[in-house]
Amino acid sequence: MSASMPDLTVPIGSVTLRNPVIPASGTFAASYGRVYDLGRLGGLVPKTLMPGYRPGHPPNRLTETGGGLLNAVGIPSDGVEAFLDETLPAYKGWGTPLIVSISADTAAGFAELVRTLEGQGVDAIELNLSCPNLEEGGRSFALDTAMTAEVVAACRDTALPLWAKLSPNAEDVAAIASAAVEAGADALIVANTLTGIAFRRDGRPALANVTGGLSGTPLKPVNLRCTYQVAQALPKVPVIGCGGIATLQDALDYMAAGASAVAVGSATFTRPLAMIHLIDAIATHCTTKGIAARDLTRRA
Ligand SMILES: Cc1cc2nc3c(=O)[nH]c(=O)nc-3n(C[C@H](O)[C@H](O)[C@H](O)COP(=O)(O)O)c2cc1C
Repeated sequence: MSASMPDLTVPIGSVTLRNPVIPASGTFAASYGRVYDLGRLGGLVPKTLMPGYRPGHPPNRLTETGGGLLNAVGIPSDGVEAFLDETLPAYKGWGTPLIVSISADTAAGFAELVRTLEGQGVDAIELNLSCPNLEEGGRSFALDTAMTAEVVAACRDTALPLWAKLSPNAEDVAAIASAAVEAGADALIVANTLTGIAFRRDGRPALANVTGGLSGTPLKPVNLRCTYQVAQALPKVPVIGCGGIATLQDALDYMAAGASAVAVGSATFTRPLAMIHLIDAIATHCTTKGIAARDLTRRA
């Protein structure tokens, strides 16, 4: 490693990210490629793909609250055909790993999407487990060890790496993480949004869906705690931290908690170059310390 060019690559199982910074699913689009070279990112992650066409929740879908964002977008989706024909090609050819986020309302639905994505030039699959399970009264998969294991096991019949995205709403996130890994998950993303609520001045709910997912700065201490608990419970499993990451210190905090890489979401809404600036800051930090990015991760 030369002094001017630190090694920023980080292994997440069999996938080598170009650097430890990737987009958080749903907060990023390939159209950012008109603003900067997407090949600079650690990896690319499109918005969660669902099996069929879905309009998502009605507006209002997004509101600012408590220094963060509350969203109830409801994962609108054009379905698989449009994803393969239009979305996926825009994410290819950037020379950086492509991680496709999927979700469904049954375990079989997840497995079907994995099969569809095989042979499509995808490097890993992210399982967004925050979706409601239709067969269990709409309870989110990520809240339950058995439901989480069922999804991962249903998808495991693939050579593609499976990354399970957990929820900070789970009572015992380390138990959910262990269930995912026992069922075959190769890595964990910790984590998604925290359920919240906001009201307008007239006393009406700010979101049409009433409840939404809290993201941004106020989420950081919660998801940092989740990251720490998961990394402590599973010291050999790669963890990607997510929640309220905007600055170098945020990324270093997640790595101190045990994360190998970080996913950036809401920060991109206010600063489109947030990830690029973070990658530059990590590179400068590593150069100053004379270390590689993978050395930033602290493990038990
Ligand atoms: C508008 C919006 C849409 C999102 N859509 C998705 C999604 O489709 N799939 C997913 O796994 N997470 C989704 N998320 C959650 C983010 O990927 C991320 O886990 C969360 O926002 C926490 O990171 P942040 O604080 O950096 O935003 C969404 C978040 C926001 C704000």
